[in-house]
Amino acid sequence: MTSGISYEVLDLRHFTAAMLRPLLAAEERLWSERLHWDYRPSAKLLMQYIDNRMLPGYAAVDAGRVAAYAFCVYEDTKAVVGDVFADPDVADWQPPASGFAGQTPHEIEETLLRHLLETLEHSPHVDRIESQLLLHPAGRHATLFRASGFALYHRLFMTRQLDGIDRYASAPLPAGLELRLWRDDDLQAASRLICECYAGHPDSLINDQYRTVIGSLRFLHNIVRYSGCGTFAPAVSHVITERREPVALVLGSRVSPRAGHITQLCVLPRFRKQGLGRLLLSVAAQALLRHGMNEVSLTVTEANTSAVDLYRREGYVVSHSFDAGVWERNRRA
Ligand SMILES: CC(C)(COP(=O)(O)OP(=O)(O)OC[C@H]1O[C@@H](n2cnc3c(N)ncnc32)[C@H](O)[C@@H]1OP(=O)(O)O)[C@@H](O)C(=O)NCCC(=O)NCCS
Repeated sequence: MTSGISYEVLDLRHFTAAMLRPLLAAEERLWSERLHWDYRPSAKLLMQYIDNRMLPGYAAVDAGRVAAYAFCVYEDTKAVVGDVFADPDVADWQPPASGFAGQTPHEIEETLLRHLLETLEHSPHVDRIESQLLLHPAGRHATLFRASGFALYHRLFMTRQLDGIDRYASAPLPAGLELRLWRDDDLQAASRLICECYAGHPDSLINDQYRTVIGSLRFLHNIVRYSGCGTFAPAVSHVITERREPVALVLGSRVSPRAGHITQLCVLPRFRKQGLGRLLLSVAAQALLRHGMNEVSLTVTEANTSAVDLYRREGYVVSHSFDAGVWERNRRA
C-alpha cells in the first residue's frame, strides 16, 4: 500500500524485529525521559510478536528504513490500539531514506494511525476500538481520533517521590477487616471485586473489561501474569478482607529499577470513605520504597474526581496527561 507521499506504508507483518530495533530504541528513550518507565521489556515482547508475524499494524518505510509503526491487538470483537510512534529525529534522516524529508513525526504518526483506524473500522468483526496512548501528551492525535468517531477521555499520569513515605502515618483498619499481601489465588475473588467497584464508573466506559467479571479477570491476568503494565510486584500488592472475602485491593508493579506503578486501587462502595483507599496507597508506596524504588506513578481519569482528590492529598502531582479513546460501531450507525 502506498500513502500518496514519498515513503511507503506497509503491513507491519512484512518486517522483522531487527528492522524495528532502532525505532524501538528511540521509543525506549522517550518512555524513560517522559515517564521514567523502562520500555525494554515491552519492546522485547513486541519484537517477539513482530518476528512471529503476529502483530497487526502498519510501518512507514523508505529505502528499507522504518521511521514509524502503529499496531493493535484484538480481544474478541474489540481492537485495542497498542501504540503509534515515529522516530522524533526523522526529519534529519539523510538519503537513501530521505522520503521522510519535510514530514514531521506527528504527520507520519497520523498517517499510520489513519490507516490503522480505517482498517479496523472497515473490519466487520470489530465492533469496538479502545485506545490509550500513554506516551503521547493529551491532544496529540485528538483531532484525528474525533474525526474518526472516537469519544475521548482525559487521563492523568500522576507521580510521587517516595522519600519520607515511611514516616507517613496510616489510619488503623476498621474493626472486622484484615490487611494482607496479595496471593495468587486471589484472582477470581479480585475479579468480582473489580467488577463491582467499577459498576457505573467512568473507567468502565474507557475499558469495557471492567463491566464483567470475566473481563476483569482478563484485565487481572494481563497485569499479574503477563506484565501488561510493568512487572507485577506481589510484595507491594495488598488485599483488605472481611471474613476472608476481598473488599479492597491495591496492585503494584515495577516499571524501572527505581520506579513503581500502582496498576489498580479499588474499594467496594460500602467500605468507601473510611480511609481504606488512603491506607492501601500508603502500604503499597512503603513497600515500593522498601524494595528500592524512589518514585511511584499511577494513571487516573480526570473525571474520577474522588480518586484524583485522594491522590492529590496523598502528595501525587500530575506530571503528564494523555487521551483515552473509544469507538463503538453502533454509536456511529
Ligand atoms: C477511589 C477509591 C479507591 C477511594 O477509596 P476510599 O476508601 O473511599 O478512599 P478514602 O476513604 O481513603 O478517601 C476517600 C474520601 O473519604 C474521606 N474519608 C476517609 N476516612 C474518612 C472517615 N473516617 N470519615 C469520613 N470521611 C473519610 C477522605 O478524606 C476522602 O475524602 P474526599 O472524597 O473528600 O477526597 C474508591 O472510591 C474506589 O474504589 N473507586 C472506584 C475505583 C477507582 O476509581 N479506583 C481508582 C482508579 S485510578
